[in-house]
Amino acid sequence: MEALQAILTRRSTRQYSEEMPPRELIEQVVEAGRFAPSGSNSQSTHFIVITDPAVLLGLADDVRSAFAGMELSDDLYISLRNSIKAAKSGNYVFHYNAPVLIVIANRRGYGNAMADSSCALENMMIAANALDLGSCWINQLHWLDEDPTIRARMYELGLGEEETITGGLILGYPASGLPERTPLERKGNPVTWI
Ligand SMILES: Cc1cc2nc3c(=O)[nH]c(=O)nc-3n(C[C@H](O)[C@H](O)[C@H](O)COP(=O)(O)O)c2cc1C
Repeated sequence: MEALQAILTRRSTRQYSEEMPPRELIEQVVEAGRFAPSGSNSQSTHFIVITDPAVLLGLADDVRSAFAGMELSDDLYISLRNSIKAAKSGNYVFHYNAPVLIVIANRRGYGNAMADSSCALENMMIAANALDLGSCWINQLHWLDEDPTIRARMYELGLGEEETITGGLILGYPASGLPERTPLERKGNPVTWI
């Protein structure tokens, strides 16, 4: 798929088939992330690729417990509030049962940690679309970066003690076959030309 087409038709996928994409395809998506630009060419974005179903289920349990234990309050960011509500109701799977989760981390205290990680995430989402894979940015582990149980679990999975979780990406074949590619209307994102 042509680059601009892959950008303009990218959409988030939240329903996945159980089929694991071939490792070569996952590697191509990760390489697209690794080839993203970084501030001062720091190349400090860390990609933790999880494909083991048992590990994913364990992580999903930890995430559910962490959110279920949080206070619900009106001043919380809406998506965080929705995650807490869903977790308290008991049937919450933060990664939508996608077969692949790529956790993104970067150096704690590094000023471009979020910017570099975002470049990598966007590259990966566009690459996934070009390869007919579904993907979606998944932020829950970023919100739970300071949670001791989540950090302990993530250390086991390769997170460095000096790293902060900046985001995540789920990946897999969309349950419906091909990724949804209907563009969403742009009501925001204003452009000013001078
Ligand atoms: C910073 C960021 C965080 C996001 N976090 C989540 C998330 O945790 N869970 C989720 O289902 N979607 C998440 N999304 C996906 C957005 O909801 C989605 O991009 C938006 O609704 C527009 O839809 P589209 O991606 O299909 O164009 C996130 C997107 C971004 C850019």
